[in-house]
Amino acid sequence: MQQHSLGPILGHIAGKPVQANQVTRKGARWDSGRMTPSDGQDTTSQGVARRITEKAHQIVIYWSRSGATELLASKIANLTNSDVCQITLTNPYPADYLETRTRANRERDTGLTPDLNMQLPDLTQYETVYLGFQTWAMTLSEPLKAFLQAYGNELSGKRIMPFETNGGYGIGNCLDVMSQLLQISGATNYTIERPLTIAGNQVDVADTAVREWCD
Ligand SMILES: Cc1cc2nc3c(=O)[nH]c(=O)nc-3n(C[C@H](O)[C@H](O)[C@H](O)COP(=O)(O)O)c2cc1C
Repeated sequence: MQQHSLGPILGHIAGKPVQANQVTRKGARWDSGRMTPSDGQDTTSQGVARRITEKAHQIVIYWSRSGATELLASKIANLTNSDVCQITLTNPYPADYLETRTRANRERDTGLTPDLNMQLPDLTQYETVYLGFQTWAMTLSEPLKAFLQAYGNELSGKRIMPFETNGGYGIGNCLDVMSQLLQISGATNYTIERPLTIAGNQVDVADTAVREWCD
C-alpha cells in the first residue's frame, strides 16, 4: 500500500489524532486541492474515530479522505461536546489523487456508490446531527451518497447541521442532492440548517467561523 505523510497532528477527534495535509498548502501550491494525496485508508490509519456516550444530544457524523473534513469535524465535536461517528468504507479510496478521481467518476457515472463498513449507533437520543462531507465534481461525494442511501431514514426528526470542505469552488449542489436522497430514503420531519463551508486548506484557521456557526 502506498504510504503518504499527512503532515503534523493538528487536533484530535474521539481521542484519535487528526492530520490534514491540505492546510500546509497555502497560495498557489494548493491548486484547489488537486493532487492532494491521502493515507490510502480514508484517514483510518490511526483507528476509527467513534465516541458514543449516554448523555449527548448531538453527534458528529462525517467522512473524510484526506483529513480536511475530519479536522473540521474535530473542531465541531470538541466545541459542542458531541458524540462522534466516522463513516468508513469497505474499500478506501487510493492515496493517489488521480486514481481517486477516476474511481469517483466511475462511481458517479454508474450510480454505484461505495460499500460502507460501519455500524451506525442508535440515533434516538440525538436532536442534532452535524453531518460532514466534501464536494466532489461540484456535487456530494460518493461516500456521503452511500451513507444517505443506507441510513437517510435514521435522520427523521433530526436537526441536520451540514458542514463541508472543498477545493475553493464552494458547496456545489450538495444540499440539493442531500435533500433528494433523504426524501428517497423515506426520512421525515428533519430540517437542514445553514451549512458551514470551508476551503480544505483553510480549516486550520477557521476557528472563528466554526464557533459562530455552532452558536
Ligand atoms: C475526486 C475529487 C473531486 C473533487 N472535486 C472538487 C470540486 O468539484 N470542487 C471543489 O471545490 N473541490 C473539489 N475537490 C476538492 C475537495 O473537495 C477538497 O480537497 C476537500 O477539502 C477534501 O476533503 P477531505 O480532505 O476531507 O477528503 C475534489 C477532490 C477530489 C478527491
